Amino acid sequence: MPIPSLRGQKVVVIGGSSGIGFAVAEAVLAEGAEVVIGSSSAAKVEAAVSRLGKGASGTAVNVREEVSVQAFFEGAGPFDHLAYTAGDWDRAATGPVVELDFTAAAAGADVRFWGALRTVKHALPHLSARGSVTFTDGVRTHKPGKGMPLASAFGAAIEHLAKGLAIDLAPRRFNTVCPGVIHTEVWANTPPERLAKMTASLPVPQAGDPADVAQAYVYLMKGGYTTGQVLIVDGGLMLI
Ligand SMILES: NC(=O)c1ccc[n+]([C@@H]2O[C@H](COP(=O)([O-])OP(=O)(O)OC[C@H]3O[C@@H](n4cnc5c(N)ncnc54)[C@H](OP(=O)(O)O)[C@@H]3O)[C@@H](O)[C@H]2O)c1
Repeated sequence: MPIPSLRGQKVVVIGGSSGIGFAVAEAVLAEGAEVVIGSSSAAKVEAAVSRLGKGASGTAVNVREEVSVQAFFEGAGPFDHLAYTAGDWDRAATGPVVELDFTAAAAGADVRFWGALRTVKHALPHLSARGSVTFTDGVRTHKPGKGMPLASAFGAAIEHLAKGLAIDLAPRRFNTVCPGVIHTEVWANTPPERLAKMTASLPVPQAGDPADVAQAYVYLMKGGYTTGQVLIVDGGLMLI
């Protein structure tokens, strides 16, 4: 059997204009694949494509809107693997349950969960019959935090969506990457000393590099016998 490779394949990264998604785009390009990125800001997509260079292209897509997602995939054409890293940060459903606003709470899942499902729906006609999809959640799924039970619930929904789709749409493969604290643009306004303090007690005592997490997505694309799984990349946070 030849060693699995992404050379000559086409990978779509929804959320590829920054952070973990951008690192996934860089990693698959380094593997010899072509990459198409999408996110809601046309300016961010254009800047990211230019930073990624040869082999990269992209278009704006808003995963909150099904028509936008459909148009994105019609433009992207046939492809082999999908990484979904899109996440918004302005509508997190946090706070005391007794004060819960259900409209706001539902909006907290619109990009990460429903956006992922809208994406799969419209990606499928173009996704290789032996292709893969990798979703993203986070360690709050397994290590709940005070005041944020919904983050755990929505993360579990993503992981179990992957498991359900792995059966429903086999032999296409569906997996989830579960990152710990990863030093992306999201932490730009956090003082470095605070980030260092937050991660000092981890077995790997630092915030993760997006490039390290990106290797998990690359493995799940190339590892043709892995489906329905969660790959945790957290510097050992689950152990403490
Ligand atoms: N960084 C961490 O420490 C960490 C830890 C655990 C889990 N995670 C998870 O990993 C994922 C990526 O995080 P990150 O740190 O890479 O964040 P990020 O740098 O903010 O990247 C998020 C991406 O999603 C895109 N996006 C947001 N809303 C969108 C929409 N409506 N339609 C399409 N694209 C949209 C953003 O681009 P536009 O602004 O152009 O839309 C951006 O490209 C998130 O789900 C996050 O919860 C991150």
